[in-house]
Amino acid sequence: MRLTILGGGGFRVPLVYGALLRDRAEGRVTHLTLYDLDPARLAAIARVLRDQAARARAEGVLDAPEVTVTTDLDEALRGADFVFSAIRVGGLEGRAADERIALAEGVLGQETVGAGGIAYGLRTIPVAVDIARRVARLAPDAWVINFTNPAGLVTEAMARHLGERVIGICDSPVGLARRVARTLGVADPASARIDYVGLNHLGWLRGLYVDDRDVLPGLFADDTTLTSFEEGRLFGADWLRSLGSVPNEYLHYYYFNREAVTAYQQAKQTRGAFLRDQQARFYEALATGADQATGADQERPGAAWDAWDRTRAEREAAYMAENREAAGAGERAEDDLESGGYEYVALALMRAVARDESTTLILNVRNARPGGGRVLDVLDETAVVEVPCLVDATGAHPLAVSQLTGHEAGLVAAVKAVERCVLAAGESGSRREAVKAFALHPLVDSVQVARRLLEGYRGAHPGLGYLRKD
Ligand code: G6P
Ligand code: MN
Repeated sequence: MRLTILGGGGFRVPLVYGALLRDRAEGRVTHLTLYDLDPARLAAIARVLRDQAARARAEGVLDAPEVTVTTDLDEALRGADFVFSAIRVGGLEGRAADERIALAEGVLGQETVGAGGIAYGLRTIPVAVDIARRVARLAPDAWVINFTNPAGLVTEAMARHLGERVIGICDSPVGLARRVARTLGVADPASARIDYVGLNHLGWLRGLYVDDRDVLPGLFADDTTLTSFEEGRLFGADWLRSLGSVPNEYLHYYYFNREAVTAYQQAKQTRGAFLRDQQARFYEALATGADQATGADQERPGAAWDAWDRTRAEREAAYMAENREAAGAGERAEDDLESGGYEYVALALMRAVARDESTTLILNVRNARPGGGRVLDVLDETAVVEVPCLVDATGAHPLAVSQLTGHEAGLVAAVKAVERCVLAAGESGSRREAVKAFALHPLVDSVQVARRLLEGYRGAHPGLGYLRKD
């Protein structure tokens, strides 16, 4: 079986390869193709993978997946059974610019939420659509697993060309469900039915069923329980009681927007700038040799990556503590840092499809029930939503969920309308649609701000050159 990773020079690729090396089951990946625009990053990661394979061989793994690297997209796609799309158009420099330009206007520039998400979406859509068209032509039977953010929006753009063959993933909903299940003392979280509904980074956990009984109400019993896990501390017991559900952590940017914007403005570095500097240092060290701080060592790139990954967790914790304090979110407990794990969700999905091992995962798919009808009544059937799905060899099929009502339905409909403007701009090149996207977003407070945002972003990103005046 052949797997291709677009964005193959990314620092998370060794995590995926590590998981592939541990996979001993029938029908596992035998060939891995890494595609990236940047040959230096590609070479650095390929060396890490070679070292990982050598170490696995020493431990008795005789059939490590063969790795090929290429900067030719068509070559990467031809013959692929699965394509992981994990690209970052404009790089982390672009992400930092998304944040900076939004903050200068006093609005949020997060990579997936608000103005920043729109800017990132606008430059990613044309690239994602081009990839989708090529997959349809060169690997029509391949399944595309999209990690590229903003994941829901990008998946919807690709689904216009690939239909059900593209599935979007995010590890935050399963992370949330796992934390809540642990807090409630659910013995076997994997067997609980999760009623999680919304769009990517805009969903709510509304029920957790163990043996057909909803145990979620138990969470609201007392403040100690309610604030003993990440989302509880982030939103506060009182606000969670008001909602009666547990929002995805990204909803903090909506419910506490003013505090989030202020915290970002006061932070020494924005998230994108922080990650840009960290990663630049890592690739530099891998390319040039030993580096005390990261533990990089040219002779043993696999060990160097491990060391970097270990210290990454420490740097993360320090960054989080500093910036969350400013946002009034308090410190994050150690066990809350563990997310669902991208490689875990992606490989679980790939396995279920490849081996027809039916499983339930929360995924980004079209809003259509297998037997007809919609999952969420508030959106049309082509809208990509994030909901629990039953996955098998025939793909990901949304399960029934409780309907969103009131404020949640309104917010989801409003943000989907914004996404549609981004998609229209991305496909037609219309600047009017792009301004509309910014202006209609609930976190952008004026049409004038929207116009200035687009001009600011056009000035900063060559990737937005396709937007023409209309
Ligand atoms: C979470 C989100 C992802 C995001 C990841 C890394 O898992 O669900 O969408 O890509 O965090 O975020 P970072 O800010 O570290 O790039
Ligand atoms: Mn995500």
